[in-house]
Amino acid sequence: GRGRGHGAKGLRFEPVAPNTRDAVTVPEGYEQGLVIGWGDPILRGAPAFDPDRQTARAQAGQFGYNNDFLTLLPLRGERHRQVLFANHEYTNEEIMFAGYDPENPTREQVEIAWAAHGLSVVVVEEERRSGRLTPVRRHRLNRRFHNGTPFELTGPAAGSALLKTSADRRGRTVLGTLNNCAGGTTPWGTVLSGEENFNQYFANAASVTDPATKERLARYGMTGGTTGRKWERFDDRFDLAKEPNEANRFGWVVEVDPYDPESTPRKRTALGRFKHEGAEPQLTADGRPVVYMGDDERFDYLYKFVSSKRMRRGNSRWAREHNMTLLDEGTLYVARLTGDSPGEIDGDGGLPRDGAFDGSGEWIKLASGDRSYVEGMTAEEVYVFTRLAADKVGATAMDRPEDVEPSPRTGRVYVALTNNSQRGTAGRPGPDEANPRNRNKHGQVLELAEHWNHPGAERFSWRLFLVCGDPADESTYYGGFPKDRVSPISCPDNLTFDAYGNLWISTDGNALGNHDGLFGVATHGRDRGEVKQFLTVPAGAETCGPIVQERRVLVAVQHPGEIDGASAENPLSQWPDGPGRLNRPSVVAVWRKDGGAIGR
Ligand code: FEO
Ligand code: CA
Ligand code: CA
Ligand code: CA
Repeated sequence: GRGRGHGAKGLRFEPVAPNTRDAVTVPEGYEQGLVIGWGDPILRGAPAFDPDRQTARAQAGQFGYNNDFLTLLPLRGERHRQVLFANHEYTNEEIMFAGYDPENPTREQVEIAWAAHGLSVVVVEEERRSGRLTPVRRHRLNRRFHNGTPFELTGPAAGSALLKTSADRRGRTVLGTLNNCAGGTTPWGTVLSGEENFNQYFANAASVTDPATKERLARYGMTGGTTGRKWERFDDRFDLAKEPNEANRFGWVVEVDPYDPESTPRKRTALGRFKHEGAEPQLTADGRPVVYMGDDERFDYLYKFVSSKRMRRGNSRWAREHNMTLLDEGTLYVARLTGDSPGEIDGDGGLPRDGAFDGSGEWIKLASGDRSYVEGMTAEEVYVFTRLAADKVGATAMDRPEDVEPSPRTGRVYVALTNNSQRGTAGRPGPDEANPRNRNKHGQVLELAEHWNHPGAERFSWRLFLVCGDPADESTYYGGFPKDRVSPISCPDNLTFDAYGNLWISTDGNALGNHDGLFGVATHGRDRGEVKQFLTVPAGAETCGPIVQERRVLVAVQHPGEIDGASAENPLSQWPDGPGRLNRPSVVAVWRKDGGAIGR
C-alpha cells in the first residue's frame, strides 16, 4: 500500500489486508464498537435478550435479525443524537434456535421469525470524543415494523383486483414487509426500503392451476411446494394455493416516516414490483425526485422512477404531507444498454480495443399513472408484474443489479452488478459490453451519466468503472488505476458516498477466498480507481448498510456464522459475543482513535 498519507482525501488510511479472521478488522489507528445487535431491547417493556427464553413478544420489542441497509438521520432538538434506521432482511433459524428441526418448526419459532423480520427505528447517542454510538432505549421515536405491522398500498395499483385477498378485500392493507435488503434516504426526511427475495416465503405455487397466474409466479421465482421456513403451516396467506394474490403484495419499495411514530408505512406501487434491492433518490433541477432501483436476479434489470411532482422544502405539516405523495405519481422506466464495441466481447476479459467497456443507453417507458406503454398489459399489470413488462420491451439483462447510488457530487449513477454464475452458460444470454464476462464470479460496477446530467433524461451514456476480481487477472479493470496498488474486490453489493465524493462499496460473497468487507474508491481525479479496503467482517458474514460520516463509519454485519453445518449448538463463528454464544447480526461503528476525520 501507499500508506496513510496518500490517496484521495477521505481515503488516507492504510488498507486492511484481505483475511479470513473471525472478527471485524479495521485499519491501524482506528477503533470499533458494537452499536446494537439482534435482540437488544429498543421498545418500552422489551426484555434483555435471553437466547434460551426467546419469545415472539420479546422479539417484537427488540432489534431484529440480519441487519442490512442502514441510514442515520438528524434529530433536531436533541444534542448528540441521531435516528438509526435498519432493515432486517431475513432469519437464520438453524443458528438462532437451539434444537431447531427444519422439518418441524414450532409455532413459537415461526412467530419469533415473523417478529425478527422487518425494520427498526432506534435513536442512538454519540459518545463525546469518540465515534461510539449507543442506543437510547424507549425513545419515543423507537419503532419496530414486523410481519404483523399494517402497511398501506398506495399509488396507481393500490386497490387493484390483483392485490385483493380474503383478508383484505380492498387490496390496500398488507401485514408486514419481507426480505428488506438495501434502501435509500429521501431529501424530504423519509426512508425507502426494498422488498427483495419475497418469493421464498410463499408455498405451493406448484398447486396453482390457472396458467396465467402460474407463469407470473414463475417469473418471480415461485414454482415449488413447501418453503424452507414452513410458514404456510401457520398462516394460510403464505400458501399460494389458498391465497394466490398474497405474494403480489410483496416485492415493493416501502416508504417510512421515521419522525412520526404513529405514521403508517407505505408500499409505493408506482415504483414497480420486483426483487427490489434498494431505492436511492436524487432530485431533478426543478425538484422532482428520481429513484434508481435494481432488481437483484441473474439477467434482471435496472429501473428508474421519475416523479411528476415537485418536492416542497421545509418541515411544515403542509410540506410533509405533500412530500408523502411524491412517489405515487410519475413514470416508471427500465434501462436498455448498447455497447460500442460489441463484436470484441468474448467473455474472456481484457479491455475492448477502444479502451473501455462503454456505450449508450435509453430509459424505456413502462407506465405512467394509469397509462401503460407495454403492449398487451394494463398499467396495473405493469406495476404488479413489472418483470414481465420489462421482458417485452427489450430491457438489458444485467449481472444481478444490487445497489444503485447517484453521486451527490457529480450526479453520475453507480450500479453494483454483483456476479452472475450463469452468464454465457447453456441457454442463457452470453456476454455483452456492460456484462462482459462468462460465468461472472466477481461482478462489476457500472457508471452511468444521464444526458445533460439531468436525472429525468431518457438517454444516458455508461462505462464500467470497476471489473472486479483478482487485480492480476487480465479480465479485471480498476478505473484505469495501476492494478498493483489496489485492494482486490469481489462481489460488490451495497454502495454509498462520503462527503468528498468517494464511493464506498460493501461486498457479499467474496469469491477470492477471503471474507467480505468494505472498500473506498475515488471516482474522479488522479486516484480514480484506487480501491482501498477499510474493513473485513467475521466468518460467514456479509458486509451491509455502509454509512460514511465525517468521523464515523457504520456497517451492518449480516448473517455472521451462516456457514454450512453450523447450528445454534455448534456455531462456526464466535462473533460478536465469544465462544458458546449465539451469533448476533449487529451494527458496528468504526472511528479514528485520535478523534480525527475518517481517511484524513
Ligand atoms: Fe439482499 Fe441483493 O442482496
Ligand atoms: Ca467500448
Ligand atoms: Ca444486498
Ligand atoms: Ca447480495
